[in-house]
Amino acid sequence: MRHLYSLLTTRYSLLFSLPAAAFFILHSSFFISPSAARASGADCAWAQVAPGVWRATIGAPDTYTLLAAAGNFAPMRDALAAMPPAKFPLPENEIIARLVNGKTTLRFPLADREDIYGLGVDFTTVRRNGQIFQLHVDHYSQSQKITGRTHAPVPLYISDKGYAVFINAARYLDVSVGVSVRLASKNKPPPIDRNPVTPPAATPSQRSGSSQSKIENPKSKIQKWTSMPRSDSVEFLVPAPGAEVYIFAGPTPMDAVRRYNLYCGGGALPPKWGLGFMARMPAATTADEALAEIQKYRDHNFPLDMLGLEPGWHTASYPNTFTWNPARYPDPDAFLSALEKNHITANLWFNPYISPASTELYNALLPYAADHLVWNGIVPDYTIPAAREIFTRHLLQNVIRNHPAALAGFKIDEVDGGDRYLWTETTLFPSGHDAEQLRQTYGLLMQRLIYDLYRAQNRRTFGQVRGSNGGASPFAFGIYNDNYDFSDYITAVANASFAGVLWSPEVRGGRDLEQLRRIQAVCFSPLALFNGWNTPNKLWDSKQYSPDIRAAILLRMRLLPYWYTAYAQYHYHGTPVIRPMQLLANMTLSTAEQPDTRDDLEKNPYELTHIAEVCDQYMAGDNLLVAPISYAVTTRKVHLPPGKWYDFYTGQYAGSNETITVTPPPAQIPLYVRDGGIIPMIPERQWMPAANETLPLEIRYYGAAPESTYCLYDDDGTTFDYEKGDYTWTTLTVKKNADGAYTTTVTPDKNGKSWRYTTVTWKFMTK
Ligand code: GAL
Repeated sequence: MRHLYSLLTTRYSLLFSLPAAAFFILHSSFFISPSAARASGADCAWAQVAPGVWRATIGAPDTYTLLAAAGNFAPMRDALAAMPPAKFPLPENEIIARLVNGKTTLRFPLADREDIYGLGVDFTTVRRNGQIFQLHVDHYSQSQKITGRTHAPVPLYISDKGYAVFINAARYLDVSVGVSVRLASKNKPPPIDRNPVTPPAATPSQRSGSSQSKIENPKSKIQKWTSMPRSDSVEFLVPAPGAEVYIFAGPTPMDAVRRYNLYCGGGALPPKWGLGFMARMPAATTADEALAEIQKYRDHNFPLDMLGLEPGWHTASYPNTFTWNPARYPDPDAFLSALEKNHITANLWFNPYISPASTELYNALLPYAADHLVWNGIVPDYTIPAAREIFTRHLLQNVIRNHPAALAGFKIDEVDGGDRYLWTETTLFPSGHDAEQLRQTYGLLMQRLIYDLYRAQNRRTFGQVRGSNGGASPFAFGIYNDNYDFSDYITAVANASFAGVLWSPEVRGGRDLEQLRRIQAVCFSPLALFNGWNTPNKLWDSKQYSPDIRAAILLRMRLLPYWYTAYAQYHYHGTPVIRPMQLLANMTLSTAEQPDTRDDLEKNPYELTHIAEVCDQYMAGDNLLVAPISYAVTTRKVHLPPGKWYDFYTGQYAGSNETITVTPPPAQIPLYVRDGGIIPMIPERQWMPAANETLPLEIRYYGAAPESTYCLYDDDGTTFDYEKGDYTWTTLTVKKNADGAYTTTVTPDKNGKSWRYTTVTWKFMTK
């Protein structure tokens, strides 16, 4: 009954000393028409299900949830237990659940000046306050900005107060963040006359005309009328008669994200080849053309680890046959063996809709098909284990054909939307799940199927997917799309880390400087891919820029130990590879240096807070600040947080707690290293090392910090043997002696396993 009492505000409970249920009846008949809604409070009992993780089951939720679709991975309990002890992070009695006409409403408290992040991979903002979403798996297009329709509409939000909330529902969820003031709100702002006879007096800052003049002091008694008065809630509508809700404690926002990823099974740990460079061929490529392209990469000295085949490898596509096309690939085994010899893995494009021309597979899956088609192919219901088995077996026998090392991944297309391309909302699946549930989870189901397939071969994969959702943290899949806006892409890289997924900014067309700047951006994203499926442009075409394109890719290769460690931190500690500025401790700029906030937020003085929205730069791993620059500009601002920052290329001091304006040469994507930053690198190479290959290591040290430590991760880079303890965390330390010289140490992992590096050379970058 606690929830019912919590429906009452202090004000009303003072006014009416009636039992809560009675109040509720009174409330209904006074304020809404008696027949309008049948609402009841719902029990919201929180049980701690892992250290710092609480779950409540409200009403009778669907049993098919996001976590179930993702495969119910076991939480990383040891890692969760190693995190700081944490209490339930919200006032329990301010969380309100109600069952209304077969749906569930959820209300979570939002404090004054509390910032909310997350709610999926959106493309234009990272801060969510004042926004309304319908979280719905879809293809993002610019006309749909900030609607919640996106490739990964993960119902997870993170508060700058250091906690996160996750609604584990495979449904289209309506969410409003700090929008609409509740009658029962404790501190609602008073109504203000929009057209007063005397305008409200100016605040002191407005009078002095300071740079902050647009920002009203929220504590001030003088308030202006606003179309969006301050609201104290984040609210969800779950279209089901119940909901499963998780709350993740901090203490910091990063800790809350870490707990979410660890609870979902830990972050993805891709194979080493997946951290190298990838390229996709144009549609309808033949085996000979693919092999010739690999040769061109080698001849031009451009690194390449993976080659993607687009539509055309099947005998028919849209819908697909999942059968090698004999005209283009007369001998798939010979083709795959040739790739392996060339240190290349293949990745095959597909959408999951099966053509009747693939008679055997089609007939086997027909009993598991939805009652609507996509491109006249069947849509198998992969919530049913038998359907998963049939498709997995087919891929292994007919497509992969015993070459899991050579054919090491898939690109899962068209599992997102838009609506006209997929099944209608009336579609039924044989499991009894409906169109909405499968729309929200088809990408998850496919990732899980491919993950399980390779896992059964003791091989890791790194693929691509166009639709994902909550619970996807362990899947090594980069999300992509066909929209092509550079700044949208960069915002998505940052937002993905608030959603437990990986986003890579696509490089497709583009020539010269555009191609260069896009390649630099992907090389500093989770997955470095040139998607050449629809362009004649090659990376070596431009006389002027191709040396710089090659240099960007070689730098990606050189940073393998650093990227691999960042992924290991994601897997073992839940810390995302890409770290949005808002997730970093002490990273907020001092007030004077705050960058401009977005116009829409400035319109509402109640919404202005201490932290601005920085969504065009981020940290990659522990030490590198990445500020991608578009081909459309020559200068950009970079916000350097408190602490000293150094130029990656020269080691020179770049600034501290300030916004700098940089004009980088075409050859350089702006990169900064924090003071004491240790960056491990390998020599330039054309493909990533094999499982037992050993390499020399160069360890760079930046800045003037008297001491620093970094734990470098390593394992075979290919298998799941790390789960049996076959890995190393090597501690690298730097310490300044009394005479000013540095002492360096390399401390091997206590587990006695050896890493794959031979000689170690330290390089002190800051003179
Ligand atoms: C699109 C996809 C592209 C490419 C193309 C092939 O849906 O986004 O990357 O794969 O299909 O037809």
